[in-house]
Amino acid sequence: MELLRFSAFWCGTILFGSILLEQMASSPTTTKLCKRCGEKESSCTGKGSCTSNCEITSICPHPDDVCVSIWRKKDDNITIETLCHNPANKLYGLTLEDSKNSKCEMRERKGMGSKFFICSCSEDECNDHMFFTHQSQVASVILVSLVPLLVLTVLVITSFYWYRVYNQRHVGAKRRKTPLDFSDARAIIMDDGGSDSSSTHANNLNHNTELLPIELDAQVGKGRFAEVYKAKLKQGAAGAVEPFETVAIKIFADEEYASWKNEKDIFSDADLRHENVLHFLTAEEHKVEKQYWLITAYHPRGNLQEYLTRHIISWNDLWVLGGSLARGVAHLHSDHTPCGRYKVPIVHRDIKSSNILVKGDLSCILCDFGLGLRLDNSLSVDELANSGQVGTARYMAPEVLESRINLDNIESFKQTDVYSMALVLWEITSRCSAIGEVKDYEPPFGKVREHPCVESMKDSVLRDRGRPEIPNSWINHPGIQLVCGTIDECWDHDPEARLTAQCVAERFNEMEHLDKLSGRSNSEEKIPEEVSMTETDEVEK
Ligand code: ADE
Repeated sequence: MELLRFSAFWCGTILFGSILLEQMASSPTTTKLCKRCGEKESSCTGKGSCTSNCEITSICPHPDDVCVSIWRKKDDNITIETLCHNPANKLYGLTLEDSKNSKCEMRERKGMGSKFFICSCSEDECNDHMFFTHQSQVASVILVSLVPLLVLTVLVITSFYWYRVYNQRHVGAKRRKTPLDFSDARAIIMDDGGSDSSSTHANNLNHNTELLPIELDAQVGKGRFAEVYKAKLKQGAAGAVEPFETVAIKIFADEEYASWKNEKDIFSDADLRHENVLHFLTAEEHKVEKQYWLITAYHPRGNLQEYLTRHIISWNDLWVLGGSLARGVAHLHSDHTPCGRYKVPIVHRDIKSSNILVKGDLSCILCDFGLGLRLDNSLSVDELANSGQVGTARYMAPEVLESRINLDNIESFKQTDVYSMALVLWEITSRCSAIGEVKDYEPPFGKVREHPCVESMKDSVLRDRGRPEIPNSWINHPGIQLVCGTIDECWDHDPEARLTAQCVAERFNEMEHLDKLSGRSNSEEKIPEEVSMTETDEVEK
């Protein structure tokens, strides 16, 4: 019972206390002391600050009241009215918006029948001391005239900004005569090792319909689907010494659209970029001439077949040519970029010495991706099967010659490339001074001008299991011995027994020290170098 009474007492006390607190919290502000003389004549000019000269300080009748002062001027008669007023109610039809101010800031109100300034404030006697602000009229005039000016300025700046952005993207590019989206600047032109003109540019697709200002020069190659020209890209990039840059233009006739499209699509994959893959600049449709162009870097040394025809090479040259070729093919075949990101593996399907260009430093550049195939996961077995027996008969792997590629495994396509690469490595080796007596250049399986057909290649490669000869005399040199062993493993009849291009590249890397064993000698030039056009491609099938 005692406990019950004790609890009831404390509950009651807490309840009462909380009600009291709540009332205090929600209770209106305390009553104000304000000057409260009503309307009185005054000498206050309504400028700067004045005092009310009101001697009556009064407790406002209502707790919500605030102090108010009104300054009026009619003719020459100036009055000041001081009063208490509840801001919840209008005063002379006006809402007292400044009632929470601590000071009396007089503001002019229009339409009151006289010059009329009013303030309200909530500190004791705050309406005694008045501060006049004359911003209203002047400020509104200034504001009215400034706002359009401001809007205009913003408009001008915005338009200028967009004009600059547009100009940079389009007109600027046009001015440089390279209307391309050059997001990734790289050197495209030529010969890093040579003295030929060099300049830098970028590699990307031309998304504009505008064509590059190009002046065609000599024809430097002719293939199955297209002709290749040396050309001048006029008005070179800023900083270029010459007023143009040299590029290569591969021109496809109307009927070869599919080949142009295929090569363009392969080149358009930025992940293809590699120092041993031809640097692609852009693709163009020349609707009037019914032509399709691919614009790439130009390599004045021409293709590997031409180079080997004219030069006997040193062991070091062989090492550079062979290693770079393997690295280029390995990059194509790889399913990851050097940074480890996924990339679509690509197979070339027409690797041969005339589809490889030679750079100034004697490294190889893979080109001619007209028969290239992207091995992306979306390719169906049917699509793979329909891609058919393609390539150049002389360089076709046995399984391609007999149309028996294992379509279930994309590695099969890579293995056919490795076979063709082995033939190219043999060609390179056959022209290396380190093998002993070097004969005139001859392609694998016969003479340059003879283009063996698929049937005769079947006889040599399938029926007779023939391969280009590797004489014993070649393998006296330790490096040549290793290269020939590698070649042998790459042209194995069994595609699965062949090395991968990556493995070949690694083998070449390991051969570096052999350079020192054999001594370095520069390649000898058999025929004076000149830029000539050779009929390089062989008949398909
Ligand atoms: N022949 C084919 N393509 C070529 C290129 N890009 N540069 C030089 N000669 C070529």
